[in-house]
Amino acid sequence: MKGTSAAAAASQGRENRRLSTLLEVSQALSGTLNLKSALHRVLEVLAKHHGAIRSMVTLLREGGELSVEASDGLDRAAQNVQYRMGEGITGRVVETAKPIVVPRVSREPAMLNRAARRPDSDEQEISFVCVPVVLNRRAVGALGVDLRYKAERDFDSNVKFLGVVASMIAQAIKIQRLIEEDKRRLVDENEHLRQELREKYDFSNIIGTSGPVRQVYEQVAQVAATNTTVLIRGESGTGKELIAHAIHYNSLRAKKPFVKVSCAALPESLIEAELFGHEKGAFTGAEQRKKGRFELAEGGTLFLDEIGDVNLSTQVKLLRVLQEREFERVGGTETIKVNVRLIAATNKDMEQALANGTFREDLYYRLNVFTIFVPPLRDRKADLLLLADHFLEKFSREHGKSIKRISTPAIDMLVSYHWPGNVREMENALERAVLMCEGQVIHAHHLPPSLQTAEASGTVTRVSLNDAIVAYEKDLIQDALKTTRGNRAKAARLLDATERILNYKIRKYAIDVRRFKA
Ligand SMILES: Nc1ncnc2c1ncn2[C@@H]1O[C@H](COP(=O)(O)OP(=O)(O)O)[C@@H](O)[C@H]1O
Ligand SMILES: [Mg+2]
Repeated sequence: MKGTSAAAAASQGRENRRLSTLLEVSQALSGTLNLKSALHRVLEVLAKHHGAIRSMVTLLREGGELSVEASDGLDRAAQNVQYRMGEGITGRVVETAKPIVVPRVSREPAMLNRAARRPDSDEQEISFVCVPVVLNRRAVGALGVDLRYKAERDFDSNVKFLGVVASMIAQAIKIQRLIEEDKRRLVDENEHLRQELREKYDFSNIIGTSGPVRQVYEQVAQVAATNTTVLIRGESGTGKELIAHAIHYNSLRAKKPFVKVSCAALPESLIEAELFGHEKGAFTGAEQRKKGRFELAEGGTLFLDEIGDVNLSTQVKLLRVLQEREFERVGGTETIKVNVRLIAATNKDMEQALANGTFREDLYYRLNVFTIFVPPLRDRKADLLLLADHFLEKFSREHGKSIKRISTPAIDMLVSYHWPGNVREMENALERAVLMCEGQVIHAHHLPPSLQTAEASGTVTRVSLNDAIVAYEKDLIQDALKTTRGNRAKAARLLDATERILNYKIRKYAIDVRRFKA
């Protein structure tokens, strides 16, 4: 009676010890994302609480061989052992996904003993227990443990216990692989997006063959590879940002970030924190340290859009960064060095700003090292039709329409308009036209109201009903004449009108029919 209760108590004690070991094992595995060091901790726990003299986790590699991922109690040479599938006890455990127990190592011929148990050590007899690490029903490795030989040892319960540890290890490996897969996916995705950006901002996306645009290409090509500060000047919507992108993506910094700051969009109180970052508690609301755009652009390009709108106190700080390439965060004392290429853009009359004293001369000279002037769209009529075709093609594709061309009257309107909003305005006008167009041809009446009477005055933005009808009628007539190659009789039939009425309208609108005779 007394004997059995003593045995029960001993077994209870063993059970408790195993549970607390398992708890420590699980803590070790969840405590770090580094698998190797987590496994190491697990093996140390087994040594401390489970009497493991030596232990190791071997994992199956892509080439099909097994190598030691983590070990405890092995000397350095033994840590680099490799096994092949099916080779030795460990190899066999992984091959069969079944545990193997070697009660007396000295009597087991299959023991390869690569893990360098010194054969004639004065240690007493050793038992070796090896269990598979199974993931998705396949063995991906093994956990092997050397224990002191005891005749009465209950190997079954040992195998069970180590089996639980092995399944926890498998879980950790699974998580690790998922994380790695995710990481690889993100890296791939990132590379893909970069490629897309490079293509998007490739030279070939800057449309235009006019003299001024060709000169811009040349300047971009000339300056891209250098670290020179570039100032891009031109009216709003002329393509300054597009050019800044082209410079970055054709430079050696293409793989590093391109960071844009819209200086005009930021209130004065925020711009410095935005540019230089701030320390925690620098001002109300600064609950955390935050990196500024200069730091975020490290190694890459910082694009300061609308630099002409920056206030004088920020200008002083910018001057220092330009001169010394260093600054402090708002509310901070640490001096931060950056390697950033600056591109600035403005639509302001800088000479006027200098004269008024709203822009510092010293900063201007620092920025004005290499200046690219982008002419307004009205001064490069040669590009106008190319751009119109480009946007027509782009928006037709985007909105799933099959629009083939722009009617002659509509082209006339595009050409005679003065485009105060430059390419951006044209882009918007053509997107609107594509959306409104139900057929295959963009007609004058598809164009925005601001263009409708522009032909006459060049400035009017309001249209009367009468003007709109006239424009529409003229448009229809010209289009019919185009279709019939200037044949008035055929055109009249197309329009369901008499030749007499058509001739009257042609005279009234001063349509030049010869234009359509091919
Ligand atoms: N030469 C060009 N070819 C194609 N698209 C252009 C060209 N110039 C400008 N754009 C387009 O016009 C819009 C306005 O250009 P953006 O660079 O933002 O002008 P800015 O910075 O000078 O105001 C953008 O959508 C841009 O892609
Ligand atoms: Mg802009």
